[in-house]
Amino acid sequence: MTNPSIERVRSRFLLPTDKVYLDGNSLGPLTSEASEHLIEAISQQWGQDLVAAWNKHGWIDLPQTVGNQIAPIIGAHRGNVICCDSLSVNLFKALSAALEINNTRTRITVEAHQFPTDNYIASGLARLMGADRCQVKATDISKLTADDLSDTAVLALSHVDYKTGTLRDMPGITALAQEAGALVVWDLAHSAGVVELSLESAKVDFAVGCTYKFLNGGPGAPGFLFARAEHQLAQNPIPGWMGHARIFDFEPQYEPAKGIQRFLTGTQSVIALSAVAGALKLFEEVSVRDLRDVSLSLTRAFIARWKRSPLSAVSALLTPENDSQRGSHVSLALDDAFPISQALIDDGIIIDYREPNIVRFGFAPLYNTNADTERAMSALEAIVASRRYEAPKYQVKSTVT
Ligand SMILES: Cc1ncc(COP(=O)(O)O)c(C=O)c1O
Repeated sequence: MTNPSIERVRSRFLLPTDKVYLDGNSLGPLTSEASEHLIEAISQQWGQDLVAAWNKHGWIDLPQTVGNQIAPIIGAHRGNVICCDSLSVNLFKALSAALEINNTRTRITVEAHQFPTDNYIASGLARLMGADRCQVKATDISKLTADDLSDTAVLALSHVDYKTGTLRDMPGITALAQEAGALVVWDLAHSAGVVELSLESAKVDFAVGCTYKFLNGGPGAPGFLFARAEHQLAQNPIPGWMGHARIFDFEPQYEPAKGIQRFLTGTQSVIALSAVAGALKLFEEVSVRDLRDVSLSLTRAFIARWKRSPLSAVSALLTPENDSQRGSHVSLALDDAFPISQALIDDGIIIDYREPNIVRFGFAPLYNTNADTERAMSALEAIVASRRYEAPKYQVKSTVT
């Protein structure tokens, strides 16, 4: 499937030509825009203008400026998104704010097997607040009912499951939770930039996400936080000077800024934000609807190819075949998944491995093509058939898998 606006943007990805990159769900590639913004921020702004750049180049407003670039990608209004800190830290702030807003209840309900940081953060907040003010309950989202949420202050869950690539029904689950009297915080790590999102029309309370995956902001790029306008009166649990109403008045008393700025704490990385600002420029030239169409056609083609392959007899598809339940990566479970993943990488097919036996193939509609689905599947077939993955060098695990 081709789309002229996406075709135009593809050439701006500075990808190595000898590799098939299927790991944009972990780290998006460098773009010429991110690179140019970084060079400008370092050599001109920092190098020549030094401290004056905070005003001259709008560094001080970058978290809001970049937040406003993210807003249309996730279906949010301007002023409701801020780009700062990490997803984990932003989740802490969002959960704390939700507990303050819904203060007749004390329970955080989390999805049992979601990305671990989300549940560590919820438990950490509960420990800090004390058992009388906050408790965490883990639940199976696929079986969620209104009864499960009858005493829940806030439900925290992932839009796309990091292991299986399953996409959740955001409007449906948000409505179910709110009818049961709970607020909802969505983790958009694996959906921002590849799935059409409409946070405002789904009446989402809070959402958090990262910019280093499908938004291509760079390794360790800051996260983002969305808060519905009416929730921007809640307190930031880590109130710092950058969230103050008058930052440079240096007042002894904390007074939160109006609006989303109150969710800032301290000084943000201007260099990192500059790369994100550059990377997001590409999204001004394409529509998320078109990206979603291309993403679905890539994952559909990959799944269809897997079904025709002998591999379907020796691996399991963890990702739903139904388009409406699939994000932008496809996960296969198979024996010896780790050494197989290493052999794939050695062959130039860049994917990742997740415990206990999963290989994830991430399809980024901005730069992946149908040829990539074919190359990845043929490489996997050849590696499994030849048992090349049994070589000792493929058994060694590094810290990052
Ligand atoms: C679903 C999900 N949530 C949270 C995170 C962690 O976010 P961060 O390390 O940016 O805080 C990740 C990282 O990959 C993730 O996949």
